[in-house]
Amino acid sequence: MSIGISDDGKLFTIDTENTSYQMKVTSQGHLIHTHYGRRIYGDASINLERKDRGFSQNPTPEKKLRDYSIDYLPLELSGFGSGDYRTSAVTIMNGDGSTCFNPVFEGYELKKGKYSIEGLPAFATDNAETLVITLVDKASQVRARLFYSFLQEKDIITRALEIENDGDKDIRILKAMSTSFDIAYGDYDLISFPGRHCYERVENREHVSWGCKRLGSTRGYSSHQMNPAFILAERNTDEENGEAIACALVYSGSFVAEVEKSQYGSFRVQIGINDEAFSYPLAPGECFRGPEAILSFSAEGLDRLSYNLHMAARENLIREIPDRKHRPVLINSWEGCYFDFSAQNIIDLARDAKTLGADMVVMDDGWFGKRDDDFSGLGDWYVNEKKLKMTLGEMVERINKEGIRFGIWFEPEMVCEDSDLYRAHPDWALTVPGRTPSYGRSQLVLDFSRKEVRDNIFEQMSRIMDSANIEYIKWDANRHISEFFSRGAEDQGTTGYRYMLGLYEFLEKFKNRYPGVILEGCSGGGGRFDYGMLHYFPFIWTSDNTDPIDRLSIQRGTSFFYPPETMGCHVSASPNHQDGRETPFFTRCATALTGTFGYELVPSRLSDEERSIMKWANEYNRSNWEIISKGRYHRLSDPEQDDYYAWMIVANDGSKAILHTVSKTNHGNNRSVSIRLRGLDEKAWYRIGENVVSGSVLMYSGMLIPDRKGCYEAGIFIIEKVE
Ligand code: DGJ
Repeated sequence: MSIGISDDGKLFTIDTENTSYQMKVTSQGHLIHTHYGRRIYGDASINLERKDRGFSQNPTPEKKLRDYSIDYLPLELSGFGSGDYRTSAVTIMNGDGSTCFNPVFEGYELKKGKYSIEGLPAFATDNAETLVITLVDKASQVRARLFYSFLQEKDIITRALEIENDGDKDIRILKAMSTSFDIAYGDYDLISFPGRHCYERVENREHVSWGCKRLGSTRGYSSHQMNPAFILAERNTDEENGEAIACALVYSGSFVAEVEKSQYGSFRVQIGINDEAFSYPLAPGECFRGPEAILSFSAEGLDRLSYNLHMAARENLIREIPDRKHRPVLINSWEGCYFDFSAQNIIDLARDAKTLGADMVVMDDGWFGKRDDDFSGLGDWYVNEKKLKMTLGEMVERINKEGIRFGIWFEPEMVCEDSDLYRAHPDWALTVPGRTPSYGRSQLVLDFSRKEVRDNIFEQMSRIMDSANIEYIKWDANRHISEFFSRGAEDQGTTGYRYMLGLYEFLEKFKNRYPGVILEGCSGGGGRFDYGMLHYFPFIWTSDNTDPIDRLSIQRGTSFFYPPETMGCHVSASPNHQDGRETPFFTRCATALTGTFGYELVPSRLSDEERSIMKWANEYNRSNWEIISKGRYHRLSDPEQDDYYAWMIVANDGSKAILHTVSKTNHGNNRSVSIRLRGLDEKAWYRIGENVVSGSVLMYSGMLIPDRKGCYEAGIFIIEKVE
């Protein structure tokens, strides 16, 4: 059994293969956090000291409780307004206008199987239990239920929070963190993944000092600007050594993550729905369910942490998808054609795709409504036959005849004011009556919290889907929400949350109706790259920035939480359209080839040499797909120190590995580069090109990378075990 409960029902220990997560009920009924880290046996609360501390309130005036204060106890769920001054996990506006919430233990339940959360995506497994701990604020009779489960071999703990109003007055939830716990001792770095459009999820490591560090998104989407995932690492933790805790939210809307170093040096760690523009009314008898958060702990550095997270995403989150054996290598029309194409251009792409060994063409933005630029048309999902010069069905038939599959682009959640949909239903956009809305890419966000809006878009999309053999959808969303105002809602504090519930419901319905269709997620690149989305979209367009050198840090940052095959990676033209950088074709391939692979260019404009590399690359991605999508990923270079990037993926049976290197720059009389590989068998021998080298030499001495002749040079090495 992996959830251990002491005989008195007060000590709870959740064990995974290598970790323990422990909580205890105190004499005053508070649930404290006693340990999260390596496996332990016994009660870790012995490590906590009680002291009479000034200006840290006590629960009673009695002398004997002068040394008891929730202001310094490491809590498992803190409430605002009862004497804990750290950032709270739950804030409630009670019926009497007070904002006090003092959750104390009421009971627990141990259930078979892992919990699920109605209407929200969550990790799933057949092999777990659920511990439900109920805490109650006695005065208001508001209950918080904490749901815990785990993924045993992956060292993952999951938690979700439910709040129920069992009192007799209406209340309002002002803040509800999905997970929250305090670490009593330590010295930590916070690793977060901030960014911007075209520069997403770049690793940022900083020492955690006094005060509260708040990371988050208020954009209604998880955002390019901050990913809903972070790592707390001991100061000397690196890829291979040291302790680290990962924390992430399984949610795609606004979120907040907080890490607070308190006056006594403890750390509060939490993540949940952002409390900005969130205010959730609960009438007596009603219940609020928050999204799931996950934690993972590694005592073997960040490499192991990523491995835990990758395997959990692959096996316990991402739905079984068609083409799991190999994702289609595709040519997307966007950077090759933008809005300027007819059906014939797409058919020509398909013809070329066939000769080059690709599998699919994807017709991106511009095929529907009045859409010759990005000022109009969104919301009108009917084919612009005048532009295509044939029907969609006819075009797809001709593409299929070439032996090529077909995919199409949609942006279902958006509307342009210049569209029939907006003219008929201006109130379907998230705007506030009497206020000029803010525009992003000249478009507004549709109110997906409303069923009639979702039904209309579903019906329009289905008509397109049913009219041709569409095997793939790229689902885009090119702005974030600013006006959280639904004309269909009585209470606006829930609009962002209900938008997400609506979107998840739509995706669920869509997946059921079109189970064979492959879905690629996208929000102007990686503006919504999170575990919530990955439940529905097995991969996501990583960034609108296709420059292979910028992509190195974007993909590296993304790899901490998300496995390589979840990253959409395409080769584009040089000079690059986003930053004008010129790079060799092979380098562009080397950067993109370890993800879900494809192109954003017109192959007929390539040289013969580039076309032959393209053929080779398509086959490389296909023949190494098993390793890419199932193997263990290792980040081998340190971007702070090294002027090259290196990463490798090792097959789970250890028989083969692929190593990719790309140099960011070059120097005259440069230093030689030797890279220590990882994940091989130290006793085995490996063939690399003409050489046979022992695993121990490759891992503990290193592998010399051939001399660089120019900037942005890349290497791809296949490392095969010699039997
Ligand atoms: C943003 C996407 O990330 C691009 O790849 C492309 O699909 C455009 N939108 C189309 O408008």
